[in-house]
Amino acid sequence: MSAHQVDRRGKIGLLVGREYSFPPAFIARVNALGAPHGLTAEMVTLGGTRMDQEAEYRVIVDRISHEVEYYRGAMKQAVLQGTYVINNPFWWTADDKYFNYAVMAKLGCAIPKTVLLPQKGYPADIDLTPESLRNLRYPIDWDALLDYVGRPAILKPYSGGGWKHVYKVHDRRELLEAYDTTSPYCMTLQEFIDFDKYVRCFTFGKTDITPVAYDPRERRYIVDHSYLSPALGARVVRDAQTINLALGYEMNTIEFAIEDGVPYAIDYLNPAPDFERDRITDFYFGHVVEKMAGLVIDRALNGHPAQCWPRWEEMLGLGPASGFTGGPSNL
Ligand SMILES: Nc1ncnc2c1ncn2[C@@H]1O[C@H](COP(=O)(O)OP(=O)(O)OP(=O)(O)O)[C@@H](O)[C@H]1O
Ligand SMILES: [Mg+2]
Repeated sequence: MSAHQVDRRGKIGLLVGREYSFPPAFIARVNALGAPHGLTAEMVTLGGTRMDQEAEYRVIVDRISHEVEYYRGAMKQAVLQGTYVINNPFWWTADDKYFNYAVMAKLGCAIPKTVLLPQKGYPADIDLTPESLRNLRYPIDWDALLDYVGRPAILKPYSGGGWKHVYKVHDRRELLEAYDTTSPYCMTLQEFIDFDKYVRCFTFGKTDITPVAYDPRERRYIVDHSYLSPALGARVVRDAQTINLALGYEMNTIEFAIEDGVPYAIDYLNPAPDFERDRITDFYFGHVVEKMAGLVIDRALNGHPAQCWPRWEEMLGLGPASGFTGGPSNL
């Protein structure tokens, strides 16, 4: 068999945490759709990973290695051995919300103005004298930062989820009061988007995008197929595609807060999106299972590992194709 021929005895693995409805439905659907191609699906089991261990799976859907370091290391080893891991565990390790806001602003998406803040607290073995933190400039000019992002503003972690440590602050006093509670997290200060609509887009692969009306106050997905005008829907889909192409995500939810017809990308570091039936509605649960099954079968048959790497460097003219050929100091 040549390197490009498909191994039709392939297995598809699933790595999950505390999820109940998605895993059995997904495995059953992949087994049904994959049977004609010789593909089967099962839960991955891991118990000590040798560095030369051969790939057991053609594709792994990883929904939990962000919480379990051993799993993350094992997923990286699996990529090395030729498994197509959704999402790419290397980029997921490297990414954060602040960086990806900055990248997508450069690539032309509407992004709220965002500032990265020095942390409030540090690990115990970093002393707070100018010795350890000699590169930090104090005091911080909070008024200037608030002038930049506007008032009110959002204070939230530069990398986080689950709506933890997200504060709306109206002035410097409220900002400092909230900031003082944020140790040890690294925080961002962000322009507040006074949205009249909010959508969360499920993404299956980089370009298959399903925008869903979402009520962030109730944290509820809503089935409403005419929530966005066709023009706004098209822009949301295009921006979500650009985000995934730049950042390499293939399983994601991309959140847009829409103010005066402009979709601001608020959060697109959701690479293990909520797939629980009771939270995403029966309708979207069926959709997600079908789309995810289709995605992994396609990747098992046609996927190439290079496909799941981010392309922001290339898209911004910074990558290997930018003309850099090395020089005297390039060992
Ligand atoms: N710039 C902003 N302007 C207005 N509202 C915001 C902004 N950033 C965040 N929010 C509100 O805070 C909520 C949580 O923010 P965000 O999605 O960035 O954090 P999260 O921890 O990832 O939360 P989740 O797990 O719900 O995705 C958003 O759903 C939105 O309602
Ligand atoms: Mg979010």
